[in-house]
Amino acid sequence: MDLTNGAPMVQEVVEAQGHLIDSHIMEQIFDAVVEYGGRFEVEKFSIGRTNSEPSQLRLRVEAPSDEQMRMMLEHLLGLGCSPVDYGDAALVEVERDRCAPEDFYSTTNHRTLVHLNGRWAEVEDQRMDALVVVGEGRAHCRKLRDIRAGDRVVVGMRGIRVAPESKERDRLSFAFMSHGISSERQVETAVRQTAALLRQTIESGKRVVVVAGPVVVHTGGAAPLAALIRGGFVHALLSGNALGVHDIEAVLLGTSLGIRIADGRQAEHGHRNHMRAINAIYHSGGIRQAVESGRLTSGILFECVRAKVPFVLAGSLRDDGPLPETITDMVEAQEAYARQLTGAGLVLCLGSMLHSIAAGNMLPSWVKLVCVDINPAVATKVSDRGTGQAIGVVADVGLFLGLLSKVLVQ
Ligand SMILES: NC(=O)c1ccc[n+]([C@@H]2O[C@H](COP(=O)([O-])OP(=O)(O)OC[C@H]3O[C@@H](n4cnc5c(N)ncnc54)[C@H](O)[C@@H]3O)[C@@H](O)[C@H]2O)c1
Repeated sequence: MDLTNGAPMVQEVVEAQGHLIDSHIMEQIFDAVVEYGGRFEVEKFSIGRTNSEPSQLRLRVEAPSDEQMRMMLEHLLGLGCSPVDYGDAALVEVERDRCAPEDFYSTTNHRTLVHLNGRWAEVEDQRMDALVVVGEGRAHCRKLRDIRAGDRVVVGMRGIRVAPESKERDRLSFAFMSHGISSERQVETAVRQTAALLRQTIESGKRVVVVAGPVVVHTGGAAPLAALIRGGFVHALLSGNALGVHDIEAVLLGTSLGIRIADGRQAEHGHRNHMRAINAIYHSGGIRQAVESGRLTSGILFECVRAKVPFVLAGSLRDDGPLPETITDMVEAQEAYARQLTGAGLVLCLGSMLHSIAAGNMLPSWVKLVCVDINPAVATKVSDRGTGQAIGVVADVGLFLGLLSKVLVQ
């Protein structure tokens, strides 16, 4: 079928290199061309002959219009397939704070290089949905809200290379990752593999960041998580107001959302307990002060304060109180999360859809993320929102944490 009604097709030559076959990138490249009404012709393909040697692909692509070619190239770029014409990336100076030129380049979470003054420079602070700001030969990702008049930002799609992560080749991660999300896998197996990833991360000098929701406390996961923090396996904790409230309620009153931790029964007037917990912290002047004064003597946040593990409680519309440490300015909360995620080697997301997706959005694609949730749709959602490296474990988070702390702490 002639898609152009006789008009000439727009042409480009693009190329990609990497583990294109076993990471299924090549089929995605071909599909993308067809999806935008285009055609492709393989000009060169050489297959990597060993498990470490990359494959090389060079394609002539055609699209029915400039606009379809632009959209196709944008999609291909995200797959690591870029136009061969390696001019420098085009830069435009921003005229007003937070107002970018319309054709600004919007980043993916993959490793990105921009061609500047005749050489490739790796973009720093890589994350998705950012702009690339260039200055003094270096390139950085920056959120639109942080763009200032005078910044020079990358526009268009020339002089940009993106390198999606290839399928893991180390055997440890490979078995785990290639299974993806499953509710049929034994929890014990997922726990052992998570424990091994955690140890590997710490041995390589990188940080483990835990993102957790209040269901950790409701399901009896507070004690094992506290043990992991005490044992030095957690380097930052990211959460919301509710985890703090229920963790403190459990320590001070023995209930979580009014339910007795000891026997799972409703405590008399238990519905007041989370408010009593917040009130106690207000009286102390804050969580840290409650630990220092001896009011708070155990629990997740107690261990964080004692072990000097930074914690961030991000506010939400659902919050009671909130606790004094809860950050209610959303931009400030996002930035506090992003600071703790910088340099992370492994992010362990435990029973919070909101906070897991938020943390995933801030990570570059080479940081491993394990998402434990009872609902298989949550890990899929984290993955679909661009955090393709997420590994889903479908399990009760209290059970998972209990087993994980047994494997690691003992
Ligand atoms: N009183 C309060 O202040 C209060 C109360 C609740 C929530 N909040 C706030 O609202 C926001 C959203 O809360 P959220 O993160 O809990 O909600 P969320 O809906 O984003 O995530 C809850 C997740 O827990 C999962 N889950 C449920 N039972 C589970 C189990 N047994 N094992 C594993 N996973 C399980 C669900 O599938 C869901 O994905 C947070 O910021 C929180 O602090 C505040």
